[in-house]
Amino acid sequence: MKILITGGAGFIGSHVVRLFVTKYPNYQIFNLDKLTYAGNLQNLTDIEDAPNYTFIKGDITDQEYINGLFQEHQFDAVMHLAAESHVDRSITDPMAFVRTNVNGTCNLLHAAKELWKSDFTDKVFYHISTDEVYGSLGEEGMFTEETKYDPRSPYSASKASSDHFVRAYYHTYGLPVKVSNCSNNYGPNHFPEKLIPLALNNIKNNKPVPVYGKGENIRDWLYVIDHARAIDDVFHKGKEGDTYNIGGVNEWRNIDLIHLLCDIMDQKLDREPGTSRKLITFVTDRAGHDLRYAIDSSKIMNELGWKPSVTFEEGLEKTVDWYLQNEEWLQNVTSGSYQEYYNEQYAR
Ligand code: NAD
Ligand code: DAU
Repeated sequence: MKILITGGAGFIGSHVVRLFVTKYPNYQIFNLDKLTYAGNLQNLTDIEDAPNYTFIKGDITDQEYINGLFQEHQFDAVMHLAAESHVDRSITDPMAFVRTNVNGTCNLLHAAKELWKSDFTDKVFYHISTDEVYGSLGEEGMFTEETKYDPRSPYSASKASSDHFVRAYYHTYGLPVKVSNCSNNYGPNHFPEKLIPLALNNIKNNKPVPVYGKGENIRDWLYVIDHARAIDDVFHKGKEGDTYNIGGVNEWRNIDLIHLLCDIMDQKLDREPGTSRKLITFVTDRAGHDLRYAIDSSKIMNELGWKPSVTFEEGLEKTVDWYLQNEEWLQNVTSGSYQEYYNEQYAR
């Protein structure tokens, strides 16, 4: 089977590519990635020479190129992860999110339909999406697969739009699609513009740790390798046309999570207890900041037998160790345009 994985040089995509290349030697895995600021082939050096792996540098927003690529390689399946993924960037540059997340997804859907239209048997178009499409929760309740869409940031609106297009291709053309909506991931290869890696990097370098607003917003954190395992399950066992919610059953208020990270780093770096907490700096809140996300994962657990393999303590331990041991990776990704962006944002 020839599988096209988009966005495989990014955070989650790199773990999915590694899992599929190593677990399924009979599959041919093609990783299509534009290598934006968020794409990094250093994430995949351990598998780059595998005989069943091919990297293709390319842009999903280029419709003609995408059509040609599908005709050339005759893919049997698509796992679509390429996206602009950072909410703060969507506030400063929403059009980039429309181009990649909406137009890019539509280009892939169109190319898959055209290639497979004479016979959809055994084909899969699997779209990887986010819990943010459901909007923001109050203190109670959880997102289920039936929760009404209510996206509130340009990022979540672009992902919601792409989800709708995927389902429209299922209902209109019969394209064999699957969708999953996942909560916040954390783990190795996470770009340090996102909360956990940003905090770890700043604590390590004795820089301020920015907490938006009062730090009362709540996120449900899942170890990235458990998300990759869930993607494997949905790809192989998920029902055509269905949606699966994936979450960690692991809600944390941002400020409590930051305190925990500071305390772990104090221990790891042999600092006096309480030293890193002094770096916490409350900054202007994110515009339209969603208060709380929480995912009800009972469908994927009951129907596909998936459950997280590590506790939050274990996952964080692995994550902190990875960031402390991968100084060169951090230095590479924190140079250049990201640094400029971060300085601009943090100056708010
Ligand atoms: P990421 O930003 O780390 O990686 C995105 C990848 O897509 C990068 O490698 C980038 O180079 C590539 N890309 C961007 N634009 C492209 C284009 N036009 N053409 C080809 N490649 C392009 O993102 P991530 O955090 O790994 O997220 C992957 C997917 O999972 C996204 O669709 C995201 O919406 C979804 N998701 C993420 C999370 C999370 O917590 N990070 C949670 C749920 C869902
Ligand atoms: O829920 C899934 C989503 O999780 C994914 O779809 C997105 O791609 C991913 O980026 C993530 O979105 P969030 O906005 O929740 O993640 P982020 O790490 O940017 O922020 C987590 C929380 O921390 C959020 O409430 C904002 C807050 N925050 C973030 C940063 C970067 C801070 O307080 N300070 C910061 O410096």
